[in-house]
Amino acid sequence: MEQVRVALLGLGTVGTGVWKMIQSNQDVIARRTGMWVTVEAILVRDITKERQVEGTQSLLTTSFDEVLAREVDVVIEVMGGVEPTRDYLRRAMENGCHVVSANKELLARHGEELRSWAKRFGVKLAYEASVGGGIPIIGTVSHFLKANRICKVSGILNGTTNFILTKMKDEGRTYEDILIEAQQKGYAEADPTADVEGIDVAHKLSILSRLAFDVHVPVDQIQRVGITQVSPIELDLADQLGFAVKLLASAEQYGENGPVSCSVSPTLLPLSHPLSNVNDVYNAVHVEGDFVQDLTLIGQGAGEKPTASAVVEDLCNLWRLTGQTSGKAAPRALLLESADGDGSRFH
Ligand code: NDP
Ligand code: HSE
Repeated sequence: MEQVRVALLGLGTVGTGVWKMIQSNQDVIARRTGMWVTVEAILVRDITKERQVEGTQSLLTTSFDEVLAREVDVVIEVMGGVEPTRDYLRRAMENGCHVVSANKELLARHGEELRSWAKRFGVKLAYEASVGGGIPIIGTVSHFLKANRICKVSGILNGTTNFILTKMKDEGRTYEDILIEAQQKGYAEADPTADVEGIDVAHKLSILSRLAFDVHVPVDQIQRVGITQVSPIELDLADQLGFAVKLLASAEQYGENGPVSCSVSPTLLPLSHPLSNVNDVYNAVHVEGDFVQDLTLIGQGAGEKPTASAVVEDLCNLWRLTGQTSGKAAPRALLLESADGDGSRFH
């Protein structure tokens, strides 16, 4: 059994889920991967905050220097934001740590830079949780659709807004009331403007476009409309006419190596359309490739458990793909693989 030493940056919704999953599924992880995960440090903003997570108190710190001072193989970043997160991840990689991140904003805005650091420092970067919560869409596009020419990726990519649209229609409650519930359930971003204005979906589309089309689409170039102007009356009317309103994301490439057009907007879907029945916090991602044809993945797109699942699966796959716990001790062959990149989310 190989010990894998982990530092968690963040112990909010996702960090708590990751901690719980590592504790409760350690036996499964050990049996299937041969690794024994220990959490060595947990970075938080406020150490005095009351937390309902048993066993974490002695690991908490507010100092990233202290995190780096511990012997750590993998840094799991679930704190969010662009700075100081970007700086912390650079320093972690420089220190030979692999990085697993759920941070779509950071990946969408600084993905190229993070990947270049991972290559330079001979470590891996994984970010399955950044798109679609528990849905393994990053792994699917990166590892299982390598030989397809993908022409379109579309779907419902935000749990909070799908939850709001569903509840507004089914329960007739106000937008504000349901948003508060989404926040309490841990679905929404720290600033929910990113959810309801479609910014979070734009981050996810940018990440998916890079993987599906090898094209960087800057977030600011994605046309987007959020759900703040959608009223319960409109949802009701659409229903009566045989439609559901969904915040639909779409990234489409025109011609081989052609331009990629991305958009996010509330869209009327006929009730017979498969995505019209994807409700609550569920997300769905539809991929069109020249040989796979159509593929749709559906699952919970936000929240503690599904997101933790994606993060911990990344940790396990990191181990499976690298066959070693840390960039610090990477055998030469593995360093070369990292340096060349493997064309996937692991770089
Ligand atoms: P939370 O706000 O619930 O938790 C953030 C955690 O990070 C808190 O523990 C906070 O500390 C800590 N933190 C934040 N900033 C700092 C800082 N500057 N220094 C030290 N610690 C800091 O966020 P979530 O868990 O919801 O989200 C985390 C990340 O995962 C984000 O990038 C988000 O976009 C992404 N994500 C979230 C999903 C979800 O369903 N919630 C799904 C997929 C991705 P403290 O506890 O002291 O406040
Ligand atoms: N706030 C995001 C959502 C979290 O609601 O989909 C998952 O990325």
